[in-house]
Amino acid sequence: AAPTELDITFRSCIPRVSYRALPSLHPGLCRSVVPKALIMRLDFDALAFFDILIHLCVLCKSLIIIATFVYTIFSNKTPIQEMDLIQEIIDRAKAQPQHIVFPEGTEERTLKAADRLLRDSVVKLTLIGDPYAIRSRAHDLGLKHVLNANLLDPKNHEKKQAYIDLLLELRGSKGVTPEKAALLVEDPLYLACLMIKAGDADGELAGAINSTGDVLRPALQIVKTAPGFSCVSGLFLMFLPNSDYGHNGLLFFADCAVMPNPDAAQLAQIAVASAGTAKAISGVEPKVAMLSFSTKGSAKHEMVDKVVEATRLAKEQAPHLAIDGELQADAALVDKVAKLKAPGSEVAGQANVLVFPSLEVGNIGYKLVQRLAGAEAVGPILQGMAAPVNDLSRGCSVEDIYKMAAITANQAIAAKGL
Ligand code: ACO
Repeated sequence: AAPTELDITFRSCIPRVSYRALPSLHPGLCRSVVPKALIMRLDFDALAFFDILIHLCVLCKSLIIIATFVYTIFSNKTPIQEMDLIQEIIDRAKAQPQHIVFPEGTEERTLKAADRLLRDSVVKLTLIGDPYAIRSRAHDLGLKHVLNANLLDPKNHEKKQAYIDLLLELRGSKGVTPEKAALLVEDPLYLACLMIKAGDADGELAGAINSTGDVLRPALQIVKTAPGFSCVSGLFLMFLPNSDYGHNGLLFFADCAVMPNPDAAQLAQIAVASAGTAKAISGVEPKVAMLSFSTKGSAKHEMVDKVVEATRLAKEQAPHLAIDGELQADAALVDKVAKLKAPGSEVAGQANVLVFPSLEVGNIGYKLVQRLAGAEAVGPILQGMAAPVNDLSRGCSVEDIYKMAAITANQAIAAKGL
């Protein structure tokens, strides 16, 4: 054969080559792997055409990869949305720095977060704990900014007697004796709440080493509820990856942290408080779904009755609020299901605030969404309290403490009407 003629498998090869194999396809390779019986004789022009085709395929594949990459970045709203919202919260805190107390002042993650918060001027801080222990821990960890915090020794400080008196005034009728008060004020969790009650601090953040109950009890006894509320509850911001549910994947879940079994009146308060928190923290217009295992009378049970009554009470308390119930989770979130199960509802299919009928459901629900759907859960943000006190998970990170301190500061700003 003449040297300008090449043996390749043009017609026989292409149909057998998968899309993924195209970039590696080369006439030379084809020539070497295809049985002689299939080989056709083509002239040089055909080879040039084939080469161009191959390069076009490679180019197309590259373009598809780039397009997929760009789509993935821009369609994945969650990280960007979460970063934006948290950054807004941090910026608002910086604009009017609030005085936050960390009762777990010697704890390592708390110290690291405190160092960053003070470095970034997000809040003013009091760390409760033995000042010598705090300084030496900070030194060991190489932290400098944390030394700008107010360090408060719970056993020995100038306002100790004033706080004992305040505690007696608040809890004397509940059986707190002077001896007991003298002991309780040395408990950092009680001391932090007394500081808030006395107006010496704006908010508290704890829970890195203490249980939720231990953090909440002194707050409920001393800081107490905000006017118009008798019930404190805990809300989570849930950032869902690649989701259009709620507000572009941002949902608010409550109560996931405090009230084990709220009655209808308490559930109504949780709904109204959650709508307020959602609006205050994110600016998102709340659409509140009162969740149940029934949608608009599809099931009959006293547990359903509670949710129906709570919805009625919440509407009474907040007539302009977009709230509906009882709704199943799919009717609350999915437009198609909503049209079938709750036609005409202004909330069904578009809910962004989900109110659970009990703590059992709320706590299990948020953890399932966090673990199974990969949602970022920020909270619990306590609501209904006279001043902000927030609880951390004992598994929290330095980043979690930093974010929650900024959220606590935002709540303090909102509570003061600043
Ligand atoms: N809202 C307002 N006030 C309350 C509430 C509430 N939700 N709950 C209790 N109180 C008040 C009581 O009326 C009482 O007031 P008083 O002493 O002035 O009369 C005071 O708080 C203390 O009440 P107690 O009954 O002594 O406190 P209790 O032992 O019930 O503890 C607590 C309250 C801590 C909130 C409890 O209900 C509890 O442990 N809840 C569950 C917390 C929890 O474990 N959550 C799950 C983990 S969190 C997570 O996973 C994110």
